Amino acid sequence: MSQQRLDKIIASQGKYSRSDVKRLARNGEITVNGKAVSDCGMKVDPEKDSISVGGEAFGYSEFIYIMLNKPEGVVSASRSPGEKTVVDLVPAELYRDGLFPAGRLDKDTTGFVLITDDGAFAHEILSPKKHIEKTYIAQLDRPIGEAELEKFRIGITLADGYECLPAGIKVLTDDGLTVEIKLREGKYHQIKRMAAACGSHVNKLHRVSMGGLELDKKLASGECRLIDGNELAKIKS
Ligand code: URA
Repeated sequence: MSQQRLDKIIASQGKYSRSDVKRLARNGEITVNGKAVSDCGMKVDPEKDSISVGGEAFGYSEFIYIMLNKPEGVVSASRSPGEKTVVDLVPAELYRDGLFPAGRLDKDTTGFVLITDDGAFAHEILSPKKHIEKTYIAQLDRPIGEAELEKFRIGITLADGYECLPAGIKVLTDDGLTVEIKLREGKYHQIKRMAAACGSHVNKLHRVSMGGLELDKKLASGECRLIDGNELAKIKS
């Protein structure tokens, strides 16, 4: 990375505003390569220079990737007047400007949402050409019959004539009401419409994985955590 203003770099990570940075520098609490700095506009390279803020090493990452266990009733958007969004659930220590959800879940769907500020990465994993597989657990109001399950696997045709790509479907419970569905595309209300095409209604829908990365079972509903580099690679696998 090339050199940029120190205050811009520190503020870009979300924890401190530019005015915090000014105050901290005035108090001698920011050092670059071991020396206290007073000029917040000095140019530094966060990948080469060693920066500390308030006595702690300053960890810089150009982009951030967050796993959220989305609760019901929250919209998959950055901002939505009068409604709570997935970005509103990002805690202050992970928050930075420019965050957005990479892909949408319906307001009443729960589970794995990836929140990032990396537009290129989001574009890559959402691209229909990439066919990144997403896994959902659906609770149905009535079981889907064998013939319909087979149609799911071959590529079901929705009421509007759209021909879905082949999808994975596995019945998980003896009553036939809990199913695991694996999709390689993400059309509007897709699973609900696929179930409807089989005469079934989705009562609850929960996303459990994106690509090869599973939602962390330790995350309670509404909780977030960072995704590390190894995990990020799994999403594309
Ligand atoms: N399919 C749906 O119907 N809704 C979602 O939120 C995701 C997939």
